[in-house]
Amino acid sequence: MSSDHVAFFDTTLRDGEQSPGCSMTTQEKLTMAHALEDLGVDIVEAGFAMASEGDFAAIATITQAIRKPRIASLARAKTEDIQMAARALQFADRARIHVFLASSDLHLEYKLKISRQQALDLAAESVRLARSLVDDVEFSPEDATRSDRDYLVEMVRVAVEAGATTINMPDTVGYTTPEEYGQMFREVRERIPAIDEQGIVLSSHCHDDLGLAVANSLAAIENGARQVECTINGIGERAGNAALEEIAAALYVRGDRYGVTTAIKLDQLYSTSEVLGQIITFRPSPNKAIVGANAFAHEAGIHQHGMLANPLCYEIMTPALVGAPKSHLVLGKHSGHAALRHRLEQLGFAVTREELTQIYYRFVALADRKKNIYDQDLIGLLPEQIREKRCEPVSELD
Ligand code: KIV
Ligand code: ZN
Repeated sequence: MSSDHVAFFDTTLRDGEQSPGCSMTTQEKLTMAHALEDLGVDIVEAGFAMASEGDFAAIATITQAIRKPRIASLARAKTEDIQMAARALQFADRARIHVFLASSDLHLEYKLKISRQQALDLAAESVRLARSLVDDVEFSPEDATRSDRDYLVEMVRVAVEAGATTINMPDTVGYTTPEEYGQMFREVRERIPAIDEQGIVLSSHCHDDLGLAVANSLAAIENGARQVECTINGIGERAGNAALEEIAAALYVRGDRYGVTTAIKLDQLYSTSEVLGQIITFRPSPNKAIVGANAFAHEAGIHQHGMLANPLCYEIMTPALVGAPKSHLVLGKHSGHAALRHRLEQLGFAVTREELTQIYYRFVALADRKKNIYDQDLIGLLPEQIREKRCEPVSELD
């Protein structure tokens, strides 16, 4: 794989599933895994084999049905977790064990109650054990962004020496900022030359507690990360993970800046988001980038006028690029004459300038009282003689 290729590691089925309302049955995970395969993700983290029988079964089922992406299982730095992950992955064409162990003093002291040295030893032993079972091992120093930097570098070095093939540095609690996270990747690469010399992949894994998950992931890519961990619709622990669709679209739309390639089929982004929305209990909020219902909707008169003149005025990508439904002009109290005329024409009503002025006056009065203006509301505003002259309606923004 060329050094400008960024691999997408999708963790919708693991970290994504760890959020309220998102748990999935094996069958649902399989449906989602097929959608992720069609989307072109490179690695699917199918679950955490030791977490439950259901997770184990889902991983095993997915390894037998999905052939293109590599399949990963999460494991703590414990012998039984790693062995269980290997068993769940035994039928995979290409398997990965993803071992994680905290590296911040906070986690070592309060959660794991072990010393720094004990954690280094555990990291080395568990990566070595995982490497004896599969040839692809990812190691994550959990809470990397709140870890003492020298100690983090030490833990990464130990994992590299023990045979890790990917080093993921998670912003577990969504604490870092783009500048700081990017600097961390630069520093780790500089201080451990073996990473570049041995072709070890650095990976980002960001949570969205400060709304910076995607920005942080992009900063990591700018500083050498060649794997990005993310989820569809940004679902995940607490405020969620970095949203796959946003990272993929940003890398494409701002290809001038990032200059990297991915295997993501952008025109499958919307449908993949839909598949997830049907499986879990909620859909992305309407103002969610790329896949939200309003991502390609325009209400303000000035914007609508610009859109009708040239969509580039107010859209940085076409909805077709990401497989979303066509752009639409929403009629509301901020809409102008141009959008009202356009919608009336789409509905099959041609009006003169004077007629439009009168209808517009009534339309704004209605829009002041009503949140949504439907086509039937508009038709109700038309004088009888205009309604009688209706022609064939046309589709939106045609
Ligand atoms: O957020 C996190 O630290 C994780 C690890 C298990 C990679 O999800
Ligand atoms: Zn996470």
